[in-house]
Amino acid sequence: MKIEVWAHRGASGYAPENTLPAFLKAYECGADGVELDVQMTKDGQLVVIHDELIDRTSDGKGLVCDYTFGQLRQFNFNQQFPEYGKVLIPTLEEVLLLMKEKGMYVNIELKTSIVFYEGIEEKVLQLVKDLKMEDQVIYSSFNHYSIVRIKELNPDAKCGLLYDDIPVNMCGYALKLGVEALHPLVYTVRYPHFMKEAQKAHLDINVWTVNEPRDIQLSINAHVHAIITNYPDRVKTMMKN
Ligand code: G3P
Ligand code: MG
Repeated sequence: MKIEVWAHRGASGYAPENTLPAFLKAYECGADGVELDVQMTKDGQLVVIHDELIDRTSDGKGLVCDYTFGQLRQFNFNQQFPEYGKVLIPTLEEVLLLMKEKGMYVNIELKTSIVFYEGIEEKVLQLVKDLKMEDQVIYSSFNHYSIVRIKELNPDAKCGLLYDDIPVNMCGYALKLGVEALHPLVYTVRYPHFMKEAQKAHLDINVWTVNEPRDIQLSINAHVHAIITNYPDRVKTMMKN
């Protein structure tokens, strides 16, 4: 099976993370898909952004959930790459439409561990359904209650569990929750017994965040399902060699 390459927050090594330029860049780099983070504004709009605060990536300050969508659109999200000029925070719909047009796979990470976004799971599922993109999406979250909720709402929705560190029996836990994938740190694949367990459980292993050549090679050798990276072109080149 071919290993998939998913651009982390878009091709965030080259363009402002989680913005349309980064997702377009992912396409130009030859990525098979993208990973993005979704949160919700004060007026219930689904927006694509990693931090709960807008401070690091924009010229504004404060929590995403304290702003309406109209207010958030006033800020410039180009902080990491000022050469991009004015860059707007995108809605989930804008990103999904672009990915649909490009035929790319989408890993939607629900950022629900810190702020409680009531009804975000329903909203995300509904949007994906309306856009007829159910076959090209996987949902993930560090908040496993969010994943359980997604599965309750749509048992056919493909889901992956995000986690840090290397806990014992993640595969058994994943099967209990009925998910299709695990999203561990890349170092996890060093443990052959973990990879064997995952294979036996028919779980896809999608690793993050794989940027350095040594980690890329590690992931290739482990035959993971997907490599989540800020530099999709780097991974593609190493996969050819
Ligand atoms: O989904 C993989 C990765 O994005 C998880 O961590 O903090 O970059 O969202 P984070
Ligand atoms: Mg993420």
